[in-house]
Amino acid sequence: RVPEGDLRERIGAARERLGDSLLVLGHHYQKDEVIEFADLRGDSLKLSQLAAESRACRHVIFCGVHFMAETADMLTADDVEVILPDMAAGCSMADMADIDQVEACWEELGEVVDTSEITPVTYINSTAALKAFCGRHGGVVCTSGNAERVLRWAFGQRKRVLFFPDQHLGRNTAKAMGVPLSRMKVWDPALPLGGNNEGELAETTVYLWKGWCSVHQMFKPEHIDLFRGRDPEMKILVHPECPMEVVDRADIIGSTERIINTVAAAPAGSKWAIGTELHLVNRLKQEHPEQTIHFLSPMVCMCATMYRIDLPHLCWAMENLVDGVVVNRIKVDGETTEKGLLALQRMLDLS
Ligand code: 13P
Ligand code: SF4
Repeated sequence: RVPEGDLRERIGAARERLGDSLLVLGHHYQKDEVIEFADLRGDSLKLSQLAAESRACRHVIFCGVHFMAETADMLTADDVEVILPDMAAGCSMADMADIDQVEACWEELGEVVDTSEITPVTYINSTAALKAFCGRHGGVVCTSGNAERVLRWAFGQRKRVLFFPDQHLGRNTAKAMGVPLSRMKVWDPALPLGGNNEGELAETTVYLWKGWCSVHQMFKPEHIDLFRGRDPEMKILVHPECPMEVVDRADIIGSTERIINTVAAAPAGSKWAIGTELHLVNRLKQEHPEQTIHFLSPMVCMCATMYRIDLPHLCWAMENLVDGVVVNRIKVDGETTEKGLLALQRMLDLS
């Protein structure tokens, strides 16, 4: 194992040699030692915007997870090569909906309602194939930072929405917009053909895919009750991937970028219990010693796949680039990119 000090020096040296030809993007859930090397950091929306705006670079090293690197590949110019330092950095939620299941759902829904009445909306935490599906069917991509705005647009187009893969973001957003729970139905792709068809589908406004984030589902309403019971001044700040029972009890709900900005704008002495990935909350604690910041859950809620990106992988990807070798390139095929971009561009235009 190479000592961390050496790795830092090697990455620093490689970074210098690569200059402006390389852009390193980092998601807020990355570990401190990795995010330190990011030229730009953000939530999924900001990182998409940054990728779309990138002009000068030839390569992007994406310190995040697979769907983010795929999105960056679709949004950057054809000759920009996007690298994911560790191919095992996936997203378990994105894996909960594959294109065959979504096509089957669409077909099955078509037997009960007119699919020209449904706008498909995919959370950005999804494969490129699902973004292309949305592009083909007049749909759109959303992130945790713009879900309400995007859903408002979707309802402006058609009277129903199929939202995948995160049921919680879909439910929390639609509920905040006034859609009653009785008009939302969870679509379970594991049920046999017809299994979801319980006569309720025609009465449904929002079809929610049965997906979730393994990290955010660990936050529970009783964690909030515990903090509030201990200190009534404690403010609860959570990510919208948390279950409805958690979001309903929170004071502020927002994307990782919003969580960061909210804490940054708060006065000294503010008290927070934050429900999102552990590395981000720990960084906020370090950056804001003037405030009291707690992690909302007594459990370790850490994104194991974000954690895959580490200094050895980053060093390996960068040193290969110095030698002119592109490792772990993420490349979405032309047809998928063309259709996926329709849905991504709609989102960017709305944001
Ligand atoms: P943000 O877009 O809020 O950063 O969320 C990404 C994500 O994967 C949260 O689990
Ligand atoms: Fe996916 Fe959850 Fe990790 Fe975000 S925190 S990348 S949704 S598994």
